[in-house]
Amino acid sequence: MSKITGFGTYAPEKIVDNHYFEKLIDTNDEWIVTRTGIKTRRVAAEGELTSDMSVKAVENLVSKSGNDVKDVEFIVVCTTSPDQTMPNTASRIQDKLGIESAGCIDIYAACAGFVYGLQIAHGFINSGVYKKVLVVGAEALSRITDFTDRTSCILFGDGAGAAIVEPSEEEHFLAFNSGTESELGHDLYLTRQNKIINGKEAITNGKIVQNGRTVFKWAVGSIPNKIRELVAQANLTLDDIDFIVPHSANLRILEGISKDLNFPMEKIPESVTDHGNTSSASIPLAIEKEVAKGTIKPGMTVLMIGFGGGLTFAGTIVKWS
Ligand code: COA
Repeated sequence: MSKITGFGTYAPEKIVDNHYFEKLIDTNDEWIVTRTGIKTRRVAAEGELTSDMSVKAVENLVSKSGNDVKDVEFIVVCTTSPDQTMPNTASRIQDKLGIESAGCIDIYAACAGFVYGLQIAHGFINSGVYKKVLVVGAEALSRITDFTDRTSCILFGDGAGAAIVEPSEEEHFLAFNSGTESELGHDLYLTRQNKIINGKEAITNGKIVQNGRTVFKWAVGSIPNKIRELVAQANLTLDDIDFIVPHSANLRILEGISKDLNFPMEKIPESVTDHGNTSSASIPLAIEKEVAKGTIKPGMTVLMIGFGGGLTFAGTIVKWS
């Protein structure tokens, strides 16, 4: 049995508001706020890497939980914007934190990454393979954003979240699910080499390419049912869930989920207004906001569901600790 024993986040200092984009592309603050809910996003400083932001999130975790990370046995980093492909970002974090020897992997599951990371950690702990797993969701999306594409560049931001998962006398992970609609892979991708995805011609500029409308429809159309499945799997009802934390992609997506489930927006934490879409960091940043306010407290039942490029999703229900 396992639980989260430490939790922390980091957002870079630099704040970019919507007016910044008015100078770059044909857009305006009102369009961005109305269509996405985004007011600002944070952008990594020059030379500030995904691993640097991850380390800051772990330091925040340590300062709040007192959890010593020197004995972490395995590090899972969930990112689509790694420092580099090899060596992986997890190994950079190990080095920067002075952890002596841990297994290190990066996983690429886009905005669903953090929840996939928790699933992996839970599996390792419950199978007895490891006793302490560090899960990091971190992104420097500003480095892979196409600032000439007005339909996507206004969306993204940078940040990081971290959690430690360890054995527990009581199971705090009440359910998991995941799945992928791979035929929609061409609708949200980052590519450098492959010219064809799903049999269709792909752009190869190393930036994020997305068909926003398709992704929007998929998220609003399918995520509410994935949430219902998860709740049923845990033998709970929606009334038992204190907070639903979907990936903070767009406030309208969260409103669509709220409406479909008849679940109040006040119980759907978000990070998109202040941070933009930070992919695998968005769920931790949304949770952090509520933890800081004291609204998410130990013992509460929190459902997290990430979704994005793949198109893939992963959900879990956690008894917050
Ligand atoms: N500023 C002003 N106008 C813009 C614009 C911008 N930044 N981007 C697009 N437009 C225009 C379009 O060109 C279109 O004009 P047209 O009607 O003359 O063709 C109009 O606004 C509406 O475009 P549309 O694509 O229908 O807008 P939308 O309501 O779907 O909003 C997104 C666009 C990208 C905000 C929205 O589709 C979205 O958020 N999708 C999900 C993206 C996402 O969350 N991805 C990550 C998931 S993990």
